[in-house]
Amino acid sequence: MKKNYRKAIFAGSFDPITNGHLDIIIRASKIFDELQVGVLSNPNKKSLFTFDERVNLIKECTKSINNIKIVSFDGLLVSYCKENNIDTVIRGIRSSLDTEYELQMANMNRKLNPDIETIIFPTKPEYSFISSSSVKEVFAFGGEIRDLVPSIVFEKLSKKTKGCE
Ligand code: PNS
Repeated sequence: MKKNYRKAIFAGSFDPITNGHLDIIIRASKIFDELQVGVLSNPNKKSLFTFDERVNLIKECTKSINNIKIVSFDGLLVSYCKENNIDTVIRGIRSSLDTEYELQMANMNRKLNPDIETIIFPTKPEYSFISSSSVKEVFAFGGEIRDLVPSIVFEKLSKKTKGCE
């Protein structure tokens, strides 16, 4: 491994991955030598997709990016970072509504380990209203979400709601 090899992690529940997530993954992967995508379970959210489904969808959507590694772990994000020599956590902010939550998380992580920096990517305006939760809700009520998620996610959602899976 080269000396200044820079690793970052973009962690989330990705239930499912959206075009907004994918855009941040693409942008962050251009800045770091290695970008790990951490697929975690958020205890405050009940997921629609199983862990394996979420991982497989991310794998499929990111297969053309060669410095991506999809990982998972239990416990604190900062502990995983320390054990794996990762010094940067990537997060996205869509609007001022996200800011408070993201600042709280960044500062908690800083308190837990001051060597780990959070870098926040502003979401592109065209993705700023997309969230995994809103995509699932709109889809459940028959709304159009084709432009909001990668096509593989759209297909998987359609199969799920038709009871094919
Ligand atoms: O996609 P989400 O739900 O916003 O992701 C939140 C996530 C999973 C990144 C966050 O809950 C997290 O980092 N969990 C790992 C446990 C941890 O380190 N918690 C302290 C964060 S302040």
